[in-house]
Amino acid sequence: MVHGNYSEIQSILAERNIQGIDGLLLDLGVSSRQLDTPERGFSFTHDGPLDMRMDREETTTAADLLETLSDKELEDIIKIYGEERHYKKIVRFIRKAQGKGPLSTTASLARILSSAAKQPRPTRIHPSTRTFQALRIAVNRELDHLRTSLTDSLQILNDTARMVVISFHSLEDRIVKRFFQDEAKACICPPKTPICICGKKSRLKIITRRVVTPPAEEVKANPRASSSKLRAAERIYA
Ligand SMILES: C[S@@+](CC[C@H](N)C(=O)[O-])C[C@H]1O[C@@H](n2cnc3c(N)ncnc32)[C@H](O)[C@@H]1O
Repeated sequence: MVHGNYSEIQSILAERNIQGIDGLLLDLGVSSRQLDTPERGFSFTHDGPLDMRMDREETTTAADLLETLSDKELEDIIKIYGEERHYKKIVRFIRKAQGKGPLSTTASLARILSSAAKQPRPTRIHPSTRTFQALRIAVNRELDHLRTSLTDSLQILNDTARMVVISFHSLEDRIVKRFFQDEAKACICPPKTPICICGKKSRLKIITRRVVTPPAEEVKANPRASSSKLRAAERIYA
C-alpha cells in the first residue's frame, strides 16, 4: 500500500527499486467510502463541507475553487468536466448566491443547482450530478493525472504486461480509448510516404476489442457499477 498519486507511478516504483511490473489495474474516480462519508464533501445527497479532495494532503477544496476561479474558468470547468450545457446559467446562480456569503456546504450548492435547473420536465439525472462531477475532477486534476499515469506506465510495464483500466464516465473512457488506439498504432506517416520516416512503433496491443461493461446482475448487486467501463491492453516491445 502506497499513499501516492498514480501519476507518480515511475518515481514510486523507483523508490522501491522496482524496475518493471507485469500488471497494472487502474480503478479510477471516487470510492463509495468517499461518497458515503458526508465530511468528505463529494455527495449532493449528504450535507457536508464543500471539500471533494481525494487526497486530504492537498490544499484546494471545491469551496476554494468557487471563491477563486473567474466566471469564465468556472464556466469552462462545468461545461468541459461536467458536460453540462447550462453552465452559464449555473455560474450566474452561484455568483448570485455568493453575494450573500461564501458557499461552504454541499447542501447549499445542491440547492442552488436545483433552482438553476428548474425545467418543465424532470431530468433523468439529478441537477447537481454534472456540476459536482466537474468540481471533483477540477479539485483532483483527475484527467491530467490519468493522462500522465497512462503515458508513464508504458515505461514500467514489462513485455506482455497488461494494463487494465476501469473508468466511470465518458471523459475518462475517451482518454483511455484514445491512448490505447494511439499506442497500438505503428507507423503514422502520411499514406503516400514511400518509406516510414516517423519510426513509430506499436507499444500496446489492445485486448478488449469491445469495451467491457458490467452484466445486469452485477449492476443489480452494485448499481454504482452501472457506468463503469473496462479496457485492457498488453505492452509490446516491437
Ligand atoms: C473507484 S475508487 C477505488 C475503489 C477500490 N478499488 C475498492 O474496490 O474499494 C478510486 C480510488 O482512487 C483514488 N484516486 C483517485 N485519483 C487518484 C490518483 N490520481 N492517484 C491515486 N489515487 C487516486 C480515489 O481517492 C479513490 O479512493
